[in-house]
Amino acid sequence: MTQSFRITLLPGDGIGPEIMAVTLDVLKQVGSKLDLEFTFQEALIGGAAIDATGGPLPEETLTACRESDAILLAAIGGYKWDTLPRELRPETGLLGMRAGLGLFANLRPATILPQLIDASSLKREVVEGVDIMVVRELTGGIYFGKPKGVFTTETGEQRGVNTMAYTDSEIDRIGRVAFETAQKRGGKLCSVDKANVLEVSQLWRDRITAMSADYSDVELSHLYVDNAAMQLVRWPKQFDTIVTGNLFGDILSDAAAMLTGSIGMLPSASLGADGPGVFEPVHGSAPDIAGQDKANPLAQVLSAAMMLRYGLNQPQAADLIETSVLSVLDQGYRTGDIMAEGATLVGCQAMGEVLLKALA
Ligand code: IPM
Ligand code: MG
Repeated sequence: MTQSFRITLLPGDGIGPEIMAVTLDVLKQVGSKLDLEFTFQEALIGGAAIDATGGPLPEETLTACRESDAILLAAIGGYKWDTLPRELRPETGLLGMRAGLGLFANLRPATILPQLIDASSLKREVVEGVDIMVVRELTGGIYFGKPKGVFTTETGEQRGVNTMAYTDSEIDRIGRVAFETAQKRGGKLCSVDKANVLEVSQLWRDRITAMSADYSDVELSHLYVDNAAMQLVRWPKQFDTIVTGNLFGDILSDAAAMLTGSIGMLPSASLGADGPGVFEPVHGSAPDIAGQDKANPLAQVLSAAMMLRYGLNQPQAADLIETSVLSVLDQGYRTGDIMAEGATLVGCQAMGEVLLKALA
């Protein structure tokens, strides 16, 4: 029986539309091969939405997202919108979508592919075999805590304020996702906080520690965030699954991503308690190379694989995409960001074409 899925596509800004076009072709081909029917619906977010509607997250976009089975997002933002007031910036649209869809769990894998080891800035022996999953809390912490804003003090000075706050239930629900993720991976979970200084982090640590009683098959450890940043570049192979709050996760996931040599290769998944998840590359909209057919579409394509695996429960389709990506890399095709000696340099579209051949 044919299974049907409704997918909302959010191409966004910069290189977004180019990498989304490649991914759409890949999904169509996978669908026809495995008898999966996809209905695609495109919606606006970020700068594209600002230009068309005046705001970064039109209500129709949220509605379209809520009515779909999964959401595939490319990237948002660009110089053009950087000077707008905060509530009108593309980033605010992204944060609004995370909050609006309740996407509290952000899964960011950093897996080094053997074909790309030499693209890493670290030594081969340090990165070979690295396979880390960062589980980042995405709808709480300092990104959303109140009070926030710039206030005027009694002496007439301005005072900028953000608040890092987590409640028991917010910590517990991300903790559960992290322990369960670790169970399916290497069985090791490292919780990252700043409990030596921050009260909010002490609560985080206490709750995560208490939860570990329910997950006796997971080996739990704790690191302060400064040490974690250092350990990530010193000996990343010590990590399996990492769980951390919104801000620390933002920072550490970029560092973990770069271990693999190219942030242009990494997908991510943002999941809620129920309802559709959002699947997107870790990289941004790269406005400097937009429209030049230079972008690496592979993180977007791998995000579609993550969507099939975690959002639509279609592991076979996900495997098929991931295998094809490895196959084109084995054949020596590279976009500029991962180019190596002796490899064949291709643009975004040509990468899509060789992927379709590999899929067939
Ligand atoms: C990310 C990005 C976003 C974040 C920005 C664009 C709001 O850096 O997804 O990591 O800080 O979460
Ligand atoms: Mg970030």
